Amino acid sequence: MYLFRSADELRDRMRRWRMAGERIGFVPTMGNLHDGHISLLDVARRHADRVVVSVFVNPLQFGPKEDFEAYPRTEEADRDMLVEADADALFLPTTEEMYPDGLDSITCVEVPELSDMLCGAVRPGHFRGVTTVVSKLFNLVQPDVAVFGEKDWQQFVILSRMARDLCFPIEVYGAPTMREADGLAMSSRNRYLEPRERAIAPALYQMLRQAAEGLHAGVTDFDALAGSGRAALEAAGFRPDYFEIREAHRLGPPDPDNDRVILTAAWLGQARLIDNLRVEAPDL
Ligand code: PAJ
Repeated sequence: MYLFRSADELRDRMRRWRMAGERIGFVPTMGNLHDGHISLLDVARRHADRVVVSVFVNPLQFGPKEDFEAYPRTEEADRDMLVEADADALFLPTTEEMYPDGLDSITCVEVPELSDMLCGAVRPGHFRGVTTVVSKLFNLVQPDVAVFGEKDWQQFVILSRMARDLCFPIEVYGAPTMREADGLAMSSRNRYLEPRERAIAPALYQMLRQAAEGLHAGVTDFDALAGSGRAALEAAGFRPDYFEIREAHRLGPPDPDNDRVILTAAWLGQARLIDNLRVEAPDL
């Protein structure tokens, strides 16, 4: 596996692969890799000859009171996992490499509306940080294919929209959420959970499944269904940021004839957990 810390070295290798006619698949991450991340490499491999992974804890997507400093950095273990998973290259830039002119007054990429709702409403500027760094990484790697996890459904919708709006010549794929045996979505932030909280955490997915059962049963009072999901989370000890039902692809109001997604974000102790579940429209 190639390891690049500088953008120039990365670009040089990408150019060689492209000139050899090889398709490049790209998986951006913030590291502290787990099986959820590794599953994205498998999807990339299905559509490309080379798989490139980036590990960069992007300061631009963290709010001033968020966990940028505490975010787990596990470079050695990440490298081992990527070698094991047969990645072709790892890009590990420093903050200076990605933001040589600092973070103030840099050019940003923003997908309006989609970035202001749900997680964006409680984390102002977060998605601007994500779309900006992913645009920069897209320009450095210039992949044919990029893969993002459906665990971060809103992020996936926003990045797909960004790629389309800005005519990035990149196929964007989503990969299914990988879960622990008890249903908890794998996440680097699960390590913030105390044992007592870890035992409660799977309830987040259970509440999504309960709401999905309601939708399958034909419930159309979406507000009431979301309200009871939220109340159940509070009763279980979570502090929910939101529990909402939306149309799956544009995140607008849900309607019974289109795919829907139930999305939630909730605090449990020091950990902010997010999860979602899609419910396809019934065949008419
Ligand atoms: P990070 O949280 O490290 O996630 C990297 C990728 O892994 C994202 O596409 C995310 O959706 C996916 N992922 C995380 N947990 C997953 C799981 N349990 N199952 C499937 N996929 C999972 O998301 C980011 O980093 C950043 O915002 C980034 C896109 C890299 C921009 O900085």
